[in-house]
Amino acid sequence: MTPLSSQVSTHSPAFQQARAASLAALDEVRHLEALVRAESEGNRPKFESRQQLLPRDRLSILLDRGRPFLELSTLAGLGMHDDDGVRRLQGGGAISGVGWVSGARVMVFAHDAAIKGGAVSPMGLKKLLRAQEIALKQRLPLVMLAESAGANLKYQSELFVEGGLAFAQQARLSAAGVPQITVVYGSSTAGGAYLPGLSDYVVMVKGKARVFLAGPPLVQAATGERSTDEELGGAELHAHETGLNEFLAEDDREATLIARDLVASLQWPQPPSLHEARPPHFSPDELCGVASPDYRQPYDPRELIARLVDGSNFLEFKARYGDDMVVGWAELYGQRVGLLANHGPIFPEGAQKAAQFIELCEQAHTPLIFLQNTTGFMVGREVERAGSVRSGARMIKAVATCTVPKLTLLVGGAFGAGHYAMCGRAYDPDFIFAWPSNRLAVMGGQQAGEVFRIIHTDKLTSRGGTLTPEVETELRAMSQGLITQIERESHALFATARLWDDGIIDPRDSRRALGEALSICLHARQIPLNPTRFGVTR
Ligand code: COA
Repeated sequence: MTPLSSQVSTHSPAFQQARAASLAALDEVRHLEALVRAESEGNRPKFESRQQLLPRDRLSILLDRGRPFLELSTLAGLGMHDDDGVRRLQGGGAISGVGWVSGARVMVFAHDAAIKGGAVSPMGLKKLLRAQEIALKQRLPLVMLAESAGANLKYQSELFVEGGLAFAQQARLSAAGVPQITVVYGSSTAGGAYLPGLSDYVVMVKGKARVFLAGPPLVQAATGERSTDEELGGAELHAHETGLNEFLAEDDREATLIARDLVASLQWPQPPSLHEARPPHFSPDELCGVASPDYRQPYDPRELIARLVDGSNFLEFKARYGDDMVVGWAELYGQRVGLLANHGPIFPEGAQKAAQFIELCEQAHTPLIFLQNTTGFMVGREVERAGSVRSGARMIKAVATCTVPKLTLLVGGAFGAGHYAMCGRAYDPDFIFAWPSNRLAVMGGQQAGEVFRIIHTDKLTSRGGTLTPEVETELRAMSQGLITQIERESHALFATARLWDDGIIDPRDSRRALGEALSICLHARQIPLNPTRFGVTR
């Protein structure tokens, strides 16, 4: 390993400007996250009058004090459906993340019943599916804090079919031997009823939890029968008659504490805590400023690596070959990792080198970390003749098929097939985080606008048309429309709203977030599971 040096002067105007811009972008993210919390908090009086705790208060009772909670997709659904993206934000109507309960690391998913009664929006569903996927892959017990109005009926067509997967995943989790504990605090209606129905352990709050396929109005409409909530699916009815819940709690607090006891009784293998033995030589605080938030500004990716890895030590692989792609080994909290980092287009040599490096890491069971900042694969006669498609395909194949843990950090540009090759969402990274400067799209807006203009001009002239000033103005307006559209759609906030990442993080927290994620992935491989054919049924 060689200690990396740094050419960055933290006093330089370039660094200071980049830092100010990065912090401003981060402030925007934090402001939006605060609005999501405020939306839920606004219903505190209603919850208090019902002697209920707000979802985040339940969460704080559930989680071990002083341990990290890696909250995911805080801005899911931003600007979509009932979330207006400006004032009334919903975070997908749910809270999810990896946290610690009774000393064990678990996946937590909580409906935010203070937002639209916890009704499941299309992006809220995606958030649940992702939480289940993480629980299954990382062998984390799943604790669900449920209170939901079921499917958001306004958007039923966007979630009904895919929604069935949530229940199938619950069955698969149970069969795989990953336990699920569900606490029902209030209504768990219709589809929401299967959530406890398919869980391995169910706790319900007396007088509050209601689990039924249809509430009184729907039953009356369907069959003419008049009934009360309690008669159809109250907590006591389930405890005494249907056997759907194993535990009956007096209130939200007691129910949450029962969930803690249940996690303790699982005796799930406990991972070691992250231990800061050899911090980087250069402060991770400087990550805000080292890379400009404008992906078009070049920087040396080694400057990022120097602020992420233990002791800033890096063993660079093929440093003199394909130098647009920087790859090599380092340690993160004492764990050996293979890093791949770029800063602009990927050339054939860089792709070849990356593919070979990924194969080496696969051979040695070394986890991979992708620091993605690419404008895509380089185009042009020279690179096409050098086998750009062949080497790009090789890299994509290596990323898609390797089985070691993969973590991706979307630093700046995430464009074209370069986004795929650097382990974008579709390539199953175990975790994928973004900086506020992430820009993600099939190509940059300016580039797409220019392509659009050229195609239309060629079409016109090939048909014998003339490029009059009026036509040119029209084409320019069309092209500008596309540029504006793509720039809006490639924004980090647009991407995180759609769960193309697991959340936007503070660049200065990158070492910690990657370290935590790496520890989750590595520990998962040591957890023995007891799979059964059908899992647990009651
Ligand atoms: N779809 C869309 N919106 C829903 C909804 C649903 N399934 N259930 C509730 N909402 C909305 C309400 O319209 C209300 O919107 P608003 O804030 O704009 O006024 C908001 O969520 C809160 O609902 P409210 O009834 O005031 O909350 P509550 O906490 O008093 O009651 C429920 C919660 C779940 C008991 C109640 O809303 C309910 O019974 N909903 C219908 C449940 C249902 O039948 N679901 C079937 C889904 S397949």
